[in-house]
Amino acid sequence: MAMIFEKESRTFSEYLLVPNLTTRSCTPDQVRLSTSIVRYRKGNEPSPININVPLVSAVMQAVSDDRMAIALARSGGLSFIYGSQPIDSQAEMVRKVKKYKAGFVTSDSNLKPDATLADVLATKERTGHSTIAITENGSATGKLLGIVTSRDYRVSRTPPETPVHAFMTPFDHLVYAREGINLSEANDIIWDHKINQLPIVNDQNELVAMVFRKDYDEHKDNPEELLDAHKRLMVGAGINTRDYEERVPALIEAGADILCIDSSDGFTEWQKDTLIWIRQTYGETIRVGAGNVVDAAGFRFLAEAGADFIKVGIGGGSICITREQKGIGCGQASAVMAVAEARDQWFRETGFYVPICSDGGIVYDYHMPLALAMGADFIMLGRYFARFDESPTRRLLVNGTYVKEYWGEGSNRARNWQRYDEGGDETGKMAFEEGVDSYVPYAGKLKDNLDVSLSKIRSTMCACGSVSIPEFQKKARLVLVSATSIVEGGAHDVIQKESERRP
Ligand code: IMP
Repeated sequence: MAMIFEKESRTFSEYLLVPNLTTRSCTPDQVRLSTSIVRYRKGNEPSPININVPLVSAVMQAVSDDRMAIALARSGGLSFIYGSQPIDSQAEMVRKVKKYKAGFVTSDSNLKPDATLADVLATKERTGHSTIAITENGSATGKLLGIVTSRDYRVSRTPPETPVHAFMTPFDHLVYAREGINLSEANDIIWDHKINQLPIVNDQNELVAMVFRKDYDEHKDNPEELLDAHKRLMVGAGINTRDYEERVPALIEAGADILCIDSSDGFTEWQKDTLIWIRQTYGETIRVGAGNVVDAAGFRFLAEAGADFIKVGIGGGSICITREQKGIGCGQASAVMAVAEARDQWFRETGFYVPICSDGGIVYDYHMPLALAMGADFIMLGRYFARFDESPTRRLLVNGTYVKEYWGEGSNRARNWQRYDEGGDETGKMAFEEGVDSYVPYAGKLKDNLDVSLSKIRSTMCACGSVSIPEFQKKARLVLVSATSIVEGGAHDVIQKESERRP
């Protein structure tokens, strides 16, 4: 007969934190959210890679491209660029993050001069941006011919089939600057000419970047920005257990700071082979996480194989149907606590601390401090980040509400067969889906939302008498809550004035 675990597995919503004494010095401005994300030997803290806020974005097509990676690193977190794409395009995304210069934005809304007003409106709807670069070939780096903003047309008067060249502001009327200018010079031009955007072009008048007036404040003030030793933004990238001999060198060459083997089930010999190959090829210089696992046995296997961090979670993702399809997995809270215990045990035995990442299943902001209290060193989120402007997917209006698309890596849309690979042939077939294609409510800018979530984490930590994540993990006291106390926790027995959204 099968071995049966004694305790049922549980998830975040079944727990609450019980406050500890909050001393006068324990205030939100004193809380540090930095955390180690790669293994270190006892006494050698902090680890070689720390992130400034304990959140990373999921290795998913609908979440982590270069734009998300830039926005998140600027706020102190880290993205893992999705690996379910050709090696060249993934490496190119990594390169773009490493080349990023604050304030210089690659134009994401571009059209050719023979496009129409209807195309302008569709582009604006798709990207949410009203400044459109008109380039010879319609790309972000083509020869700049003009700019269209909402001041150039009137939807009620201009027929939709009007070609863009008839109403754009042409290049010879534009204020622009040459490549090489720095941000403060660019901002001076913006202020002097009272303009909202400044195109930056090279000697051939090809578009290089845009600088926007509205970004001015944002670029002044980013104290948590996650930078490497050369002051470039940091970025991670997902890899798989099939093509790592080609993918890993390309990603490293592009400048990836850390890699992660992305799989729904990481307790496999293929993950061990991949880790061993990376160690034999690069020694300790390349940092690589592995997973996902949900118990001590899985953790020990990957820690022994050399993983730098270990990702925890099977079946808890919002778009995930692995549990329904294959019947494997474990409640996310129990998985995190079991693996955290294994990590601490391993630390005592070997002197190596291997951080763990709770991956998936965060629904409410308060789940974030719960995951940390349960032992996670950092947290990976998909749905949370998919809702923001910076995620790679389309924003749509569905039934009067703005939504963003969000699909699982195991859905037919992504067909990331390497993530669900169980050996066998190389044909890349997926016999069945393990994820769904969905919408999530659109939530605006990453930074605005993240600031609120982080301030909630800081407040929770203060309530538990802690100013750092390691202290919080030691001091936190958790209690299981009954189904009726969960009802008691929400607004109840009142008639609410309007439906409120509480992320
Ligand atoms: P979320 O934050 O709850 O949306 O979960 C995101 C996590 O779900 C990712 O980091 C992956 O571990 C996992 N995931 C991504 N795509 C799929 C899928 O198609 N099926 C199952 N799990 C998935």
